[in-house]
Amino acid sequence: MSAPVRVAVLVSRIRVEEKLLLTALEAGGAAVQVINDDDLVLPINGGRPSFEADVVLERSVSAARGIYALRVLEAHGYRTVNRYATSATCWDKLLTTAALAEAGIPQPRVRVAFTPESALRAIEELGYPVVLKPVVGSWGRLLSKINDRDAAEAVLEHKDVLGSYQHSIYYIQEYITKPGRDIRAFVVGDETICAIYRTSEHWITNTARGGQASNCPVTPVLNDLCRRTARAVGGGVLAIDVLEDPQHGFLVNEVNHTMEFRNSIHTTGVDIPGRVVAYVLEVGRSGGDAEYPAGVVHRSSTPGASR
Ligand SMILES: Nc1ncnc2c1ncn2[C@@H]1O[C@H](COP(=O)(O)OP(=O)(O)O)[C@@H](O)[C@H]1O
Ligand SMILES: [Mg+2]
Repeated sequence: MSAPVRVAVLVSRIRVEEKLLLTALEAGGAAVQVINDDDLVLPINGGRPSFEADVVLERSVSAARGIYALRVLEAHGYRTVNRYATSATCWDKLLTTAALAEAGIPQPRVRVAFTPESALRAIEELGYPVVLKPVVGSWGRLLSKINDRDAAEAVLEHKDVLGSYQHSIYYIQEYITKPGRDIRAFVVGDETICAIYRTSEHWITNTARGGQASNCPVTPVLNDLCRRTARAVGGGVLAIDVLEDPQHGFLVNEVNHTMEFRNSIHTTGVDIPGRVVAYVLEVGRSGGDAEYPAGVVHRSSTPGASR
């Protein structure tokens, strides 16, 4: 019998997702070590981290902690899920949009500007309504849907005067008139394993904000789009937000690299933690310099529609 795969799980706390992943890892016969990011000291040089692992599964609640830990761990030769480059791209909506644009993935139109004046110009170029977002953020926080010039001027002034440094990067996206819902699709390796609709009376549909989850069939078109999107950001275990545009069809809104999935297991009937763990064990087993499993290795040559 082969030796168990040594999996280190980096956490901030054990939420429902981490509990499910740990149970699945145990069922998969992994030798598991839980590392709390509160306690972690990582030598960047002049030493090595004190733990041995074939693969590190990053599940920090703090994206910044997770990303910096991944960077250091990769430098020491650890294999990680997700990889640093993937997480660093997905963490930041602007970097995600740029990576998807390069790969020709259909997205809402986005402008970036660095002053309130140029941001106002960008907003008027795109046309109302627009959505202004912090480049780093989640759970639908601090998003502004701006319906007219009065609102634009007010939000831009508030961001300028009261916002932290991050709010001086104006990420401006066209508003998509979606059908009261959006899609959250789960990609593991090279497969879209399942998807949910998130339906809400509010334009922000995050389940953390009261959006209701229901099963969304993974059609070949959705699967193809999500696989190409995953590859465009480096592949791995990802949750992709997709908007249904009445005119242009599916548009990718953002990609999440440390996904939450508690509301989606019963809804879809898919064992999401089991699928994630199978992927993690595959990465751990492939060892050495071997490339990560499918989804990371193959780059699509199919050009996508670009907007
Ligand atoms: N441009 C947009 N058009 C329509 N709805 C949007 C747009 N941007 C965001 N939303 C809604 O707000 C939700 C949260 O936005 P998102 O960009 O995913 O930020 P977060 O990282 O906070 O989840 C989306 O799932 C979607 O329902
Ligand atoms: Mg989102």
